[in-house]
Amino acid sequence: MRTARVDRYGPPESVTIVAAPVPRPRPGEVLVRVAAAGVSAGDARMRAGRFPPGFGPLARLAIGLRGPRVGVLGSTFAGVVEEPGDGVNGPAAGDRVAGMTGVRMGCHAEFVSVPAHAAVRIPASLGDPDAAGVLFGGTTALHFLRDRAGVRPGATVLVNGSSGSVGSAAVQLAATLGATVTAVCSTANRELVVRLGAERWIDYATTPVARVGERFDVV
Ligand SMILES: NC(=O)c1ccc[n+]([C@@H]2O[C@H](COP(=O)([O-])OP(=O)(O)OC[C@H]3O[C@@H](n4cnc5c(N)ncnc54)[C@H](OP(=O)(O)O)[C@@H]3O)[C@@H](O)[C@H]2O)c1
Repeated sequence: MRTARVDRYGPPESVTIVAAPVPRPRPGEVLVRVAAAGVSAGDARMRAGRFPPGFGPLARLAIGLRGPRVGVLGSTFAGVVEEPGDGVNGPAAGDRVAGMTGVRMGCHAEFVSVPAHAAVRIPASLGDPDAAGVLFGGTTALHFLRDRAGVRPGATVLVNGSSGSVGSAAVQLAATLGATVTAVCSTANRELVVRLGAERWIDYATTPVARVGERFDVV
């Protein structure tokens, strides 16, 4: 199979297409033929070796000194089950599934093998690129807004970085949960965040979030 590999931290050109053996599904895993995979802000950071100030040496020890140890990046996929491993009761061969591989990454490849419970069936109405694309930001936003912050109808929510992967999901989810959403992003994305459900918009270029000067139930 073909994989998109990063052996050395660097610009997008440091990604190369390299042949690799198709993985064998271990017991409890399903082998998925990947139709679409997300490229996230996390992938870009890993590819470039761009870590928060002060964390560089520690991060490189953990993730890889000269390049990411995992080699093949990508943590979200959508595709079709090619082969279930031993002991798998579902999903079955031919099912359309999507999921996340977390720190194992490896989704920028033609095949990925994942625990069966981590491969969920894709609704017929959802295409592969949308299924793979929604997971990184969508699961993060859902966890923090619904499970951690417990956003309820009538809450006021400020979403900083509202037009990105996490933020665009957060705006939609908060609005769906009944909150009043104020979105912070660039002018170029104002129309997008308003369309997604924001009632108010703040341009970070003129009003840095620390100077907004009002209180919100959830930020
Ligand atoms: N803890 C977790 O589980 C988890 C998971 C996923 C992501 N994250 C983190 O969440 C952050 C966002 O990730 P993402 O994937 O959504 O990134 P992204 O898609 O690159 O989006 C970045 C967002 O930040 C906005 N932005 C840029 N400069 C800004 C500024 N000075 N003030 C306010 N907003 C600004 C951008 O607006 P414009 O495009 O309009 O300029 C855009 O909306 C990252 O730090 C990422 O590492 C954490």
